[in-house]
Amino acid sequence: MTALSSGSSRPLRGHCRVPGDKSISHRVLILGALAVGRTRIANLLEGDDVLRTAAALRALGARIECDRAGTWSVHGVGVGGLAEPAEILDLGNSGTGARLLMGVVATHPFTTFFTGDDSLRRRPMARVIEPLTRTGARFVARNGNRLPLAVVGTSSPMPIAYKLPVPSAQVKSAVLLAGLSAPGETTVTEPVATRDHTENLLRHFGAAIDVAAEGGGKRITLTGQPELKAAELSVPGDPSSAAFPTVATLIRAGSAITIEGVGINPLRAGLYQTLAEMGAQIAFAKERVAGGERVADIKVKAGALHGVEVPAARAPSMIDEYPVLAVAAAFAEGRTVMHGLGELRVKESDRLVAIAEGLRKCGVSAIIDGDTLTVEGRGTPPRGGARVAARLDHRIAMAFLVLGGAACKPVRIDDGETITTSFPDFIKLMNRLGTRIAEVRK
Ligand code: S3P
Repeated sequence: MTALSSGSSRPLRGHCRVPGDKSISHRVLILGALAVGRTRIANLLEGDDVLRTAAALRALGARIECDRAGTWSVHGVGVGGLAEPAEILDLGNSGTGARLLMGVVATHPFTTFFTGDDSLRRRPMARVIEPLTRTGARFVARNGNRLPLAVVGTSSPMPIAYKLPVPSAQVKSAVLLAGLSAPGETTVTEPVATRDHTENLLRHFGAAIDVAAEGGGKRITLTGQPELKAAELSVPGDPSSAAFPTVATLIRAGSAITIEGVGINPLRAGLYQTLAEMGAQIAFAKERVAGGERVADIKVKAGALHGVEVPAARAPSMIDEYPVLAVAAAFAEGRTVMHGLGELRVKESDRLVAIAEGLRKCGVSAIIDGDTLTVEGRGTPPRGGARVAARLDHRIAMAFLVLGGAACKPVRIDDGETITTSFPDFIKLMNRLGTRIAEVRK
């Protein structure tokens, strides 16, 4: 356990880059392993979550090498070409790694065992077990469909048509990845659009994938058993990581920073839209497209924020950003009401409870009513001066360290170790910009 404290910071100033996108990093490793030839990746996130996925793919027979910091090569085995791992795959804290790989191995003819840390072993897996069972795979899981679990992959995979009961890009991706080894068309219908990195990357690797609008969402059709061709990719900066220096800048008077090369895929950019509605000075500069994803430099300036109502329909495009949005709301003038947050209960921690309890300890009114969270700001820095439990959740840890940087009194979190899952250089980068985050020696 590493306790961390964050005290009143200097104004944040300067330029920075955040690490590669976590969602894209997992996916490019997986698709690289299923392609024929050598895939070269620049700016891969070297966080624990992604390194676990790389280790799991190695155990499944792919050769993966780090050429130099951030630059990686994956020597793929071709669709359907993975081999039975001799060891249990331990995905650590990573729900994305675990669920996407379950999709991959469900349609390979061997047995794979999965486990993870205390947080991952508490998270629900029925959402992937249910559709993947329809492909012909069998699962043996602990009570409540939790890890550790075994996947008995099928040797004659069925393509399925599946309608997502929850808006989850992980479930959508697990089904599509399973469909790669099945003959014919695998179809996923999502009532609300979720992040589409799997679709973009499948296309980038040469798969035939069709996306059609349906109702408010999409219908995605993948033609199975493609030959995926090795590709090159530079992973954009992670908008979910950029969210932390962004909010730290907005709430500390006199701050102004630029974050370069951040992914601004509209299905990930809900936070930036919401902050703009709160009156934040945020601009996207030098917009470009790289590897099928929109990228920009984000320019942020401190200034007054006001409360807003965030509709439930926006939740999928900012699902990982509510902890830090709630921090921005704590500094804003008035009430911020965030609807449709049910999925926050099954993240790395129960984030709804973690956010509300942490804010209350810091002197901020936060009320949970069903799936709605209401945070009452006064337009002035909250008291702070609290010890907050990070609950094995990197985004809870980082959000409250951001709060501590601009609150009246320092904030301490009990354990910052999981920050390395998504943002290994978080403390170094934030302190270079102006914050005062430090390890607390016990
Ligand atoms: C992710 C999807 C989201 C998100 C997670 C990453 C992905 O989860 O919270 O951090 O890479 O597909 P859900 O699919 O459970 O919404």
